[in-house]
Amino acid sequence: MTQILATVAELRAALAGPRRSMARIGMVPTMGALHDGHLALVAESKKHSDQVVVSIFVNPTQFAPSEDFDAYPRTLDKDVERLGGRADIVFAPSAREIYPAGYATHISVSGPSAGLETDFRPHFFAGVATVVAKLLIAASPDVAVFGEKDYQQLLVVKRLVRDLALPVTILGVPTLRESDGLAMSSRNAYLSAEERKVAGALNRILKDAIARAQTSGDLRAAEASSVEALWAAGFSHVDYAAIRDSETLDHITTLDRPARILAAVKIGKTRLIDNMAV
Ligand code: PAJ
Repeated sequence: MTQILATVAELRAALAGPRRSMARIGMVPTMGALHDGHLALVAESKKHSDQVVVSIFVNPTQFAPSEDFDAYPRTLDKDVERLGGRADIVFAPSAREIYPAGYATHISVSGPSAGLETDFRPHFFAGVATVVAKLLIAASPDVAVFGEKDYQQLLVVKRLVRDLALPVTILGVPTLRESDGLAMSSRNAYLSAEERKVAGALNRILKDAIARAQTSGDLRAAEASSVEALWAAGFSHVDYAAIRDSETLDHITTLDRPARILAAVKIGKTRLIDNMAV
């Protein structure tokens, strides 16, 4: 039976007993509209813990006023059904619970936040770091699971936890994809049938760029040709397609260390991101 809790006090009370009996606690932070990618995180969490907490909170501070905060799908009942008892606790707080009147504390992580997403969503990682810190402090899990789908976010969360010495292990899970390679995302629900066809090209083009980078060794040329291919595939905007050091996201010129290609595009009003190991 999944308990659905809305306050930090209730969450702490519900976890006090299991913690006393040495249960390991796992947490999966989400914004809901759960899909199989989220469920893979829940499954990973279950492997490492006795009690799984899934948080569902559409975090206002990580959206700019121009973004899709109001439109973001909120489907709590369906999400609980989707979880089908795989979560012991669903923590679904209100915005007031997380950000009480007069809320004034924000966490900003530099390092891995620099560039890429931050160039286009400058507010984003401070919002993510703040809410993730609050969620981790509220549940105090032993492990917390995040997707590689949001690769820069995963690195930011790891740095946050390291820098604040939060007593939690962060685990990353590979991206779950549709059959044409499109990374599963709650935002895919925004796509029209026509846009959905175009969206499948994103992952294909990243794979081509990886092959090109590996054969030619010219990373800038591989990036440039993928940007060109993305425009040609019908995306309405290409924010970036970049090959970076996998650990630091630093610029690199040769593939002499683990590297990652990361990209963000828009199709109509919908923004899609993807990344792969090179
Ligand atoms: P959300 O987009 O709901 O994603 C929740 C978690 O699921 C993130 O760790 C994300 O990387 C992971 N995820 C999403 N799609 C995935 C896929 N196709 N395969 C594997 N994992 C996937 O990311 C957020 O929410 C928020 O920023 C949050 C961390 C909850 C803070 O508000």
